[in-house]
Amino acid sequence: MEYNRLGKTGLKVSQLSFGSWVTFSFQLGVSDATKIMKIAYERGVNFFDNAEAYASGESELIMGEAIKKLGINRDSYIVSSKVFWGGEKPTQRGLSHKHIVDACHAAMKRLQVDYLDLYFCHRPDPETPIEETVRAMHTLIMQGKICYWGTSEWSCHDIQEAYKISKELGLTPPSMEQPEYNMFNRSKLEKEYLPLFEKEKLGTTIWSPLASGLLTGKYIDSSPKDTRIHLKPYKFLKDAFESDEFIERHEKVRLLNELSNNVGIPLVNIALCWCLKNKHVSTVILGASKIEQLEQNLNSLDYLESFDIELMDKIENILNNKPV
Ligand SMILES: NC(=O)c1ccc[n+]([C@@H]2O[C@H](COP(=O)([O-])OP(=O)(O)OC[C@H]3O[C@@H](n4cnc5c(N)ncnc54)[C@H](OP(=O)(O)O)[C@@H]3O)[C@@H](O)[C@H]2O)c1
Repeated sequence: MEYNRLGKTGLKVSQLSFGSWVTFSFQLGVSDATKIMKIAYERGVNFFDNAEAYASGESELIMGEAIKKLGINRDSYIVSSKVFWGGEKPTQRGLSHKHIVDACHAAMKRLQVDYLDLYFCHRPDPETPIEETVRAMHTLIMQGKICYWGTSEWSCHDIQEAYKISKELGLTPPSMEQPEYNMFNRSKLEKEYLPLFEKEKLGTTIWSPLASGLLTGKYIDSSPKDTRIHLKPYKFLKDAFESDEFIERHEKVRLLNELSNNVGIPLVNIALCWCLKNKHVSTVILGASKIEQLEQNLNSLDYLESFDIELMDKIENILNNKPV
């Protein structure tokens, strides 16, 4: 495992990290979560991603218990939370100073930690001035409750605004963004954010590297039942997978699978190495509902060296979706 600086910060984050969206609570309880996090940690993963919204807080409760059971030193791992979808009441959502503070305290309690390493604004909030959000995050940093703050799925324009406000008012700017990045979702990382990488050296913790499992190839001929798309709250994924919009994606996965057979690299590892090859990716957040999946995904590091320009070109020819 290698460790990358998170953007221009001094924080070293493992190139592969682990997140609990969908899996913790809906698929894994404390015991299995502890086992899977143990393997991740022992194989060098030092960043565990979470959010107040995941299973309505249950995911953070499970991760907190798992960390306690593992008995790992607080200074040896990084844990995150994200604020935006806390509850139904008007004060429990969005990026107001109040909700940012309440959600931070609640996440620390659920995760059983004294501070959060990374704290993300899970989405932009058009109903809160960016200045209010920047000030709230800066205050939490000054209070020692969070180390770094960042955004998730914000526009380049809004992130630039956050930098501008921080500079003008002497507040702490964001350090990282958490965008979706995989073979089918490339525009933010490969196009929109380029000025931010250039000027601000923004770090990225990218999500859904396997497009929720589509890029494993397991949906090519069938729809296996024990997967996330069959969970009730995630029916939207099943609907998307079965929609006309996805016909082209399924065809690309079939071609990528043929390429995988030809070059002797499993498709999951091709998809994950492809993300790792982007120099603007600080860490690829893995998801896994089974230990074998996590182990296979971590094996991607063994294939990185064989990932040459020729192979990247072959992949590009199949994808044919490079942002211009
Ligand atoms: N900021 C945001 O808005 C946001 C949004 C989404 C996710 N995230 C973060 O990013 C993390 C990763 O996202 P993700 O879980 O969507 O990642 P992903 O890699 O796209 O999907 C992971 C899922 O794919 C399946 N899978 C993984 N490895 C496999 C393998 N080797 N063989 C077969 N199936 C495999 C498993 O689902 P099955 O149970 O279906 O087999 C697994 O849970 C999340 O946990 C979360 O921390 C952030």
